[in-house]
Amino acid sequence: MYICLCQPVTDGQIREAVCSGVACNVRQLQNHLGIAKQCKRCARAAKEVVNETLLSLERNHPPTHSIHAVAMQAHLEKIPTTQSAAGFSL
Ligand code: FES
Repeated sequence: MYICLCQPVTDGQIREAVCSGVACNVRQLQNHLGIAKQCKRCARAAKEVVNETLLSLERNHPPTHSIHAVAMQAHLEKIPTTQSAAGFSL
């Protein structure tokens, strides 16, 4: 599914960028994939995909001391404790 229409980018491309460690937030996706640079309507949806992917990584690969794990932990701390951006309780 396309997340950004101004710079055609799919949710799969965003997941791949997050899983490969290239990006773990929308600002890094802006630099890597060029999303959310024009109308910015995709920023919220992109953030949700990032959050979902980070949560999935967290569940499948518990944090270690890697740089990515530290970035993931910092990112997760910004998500409200009662409900994630994906819409389910943590
Ligand atoms: S939809 Fe992504 S910048 Fe416009």
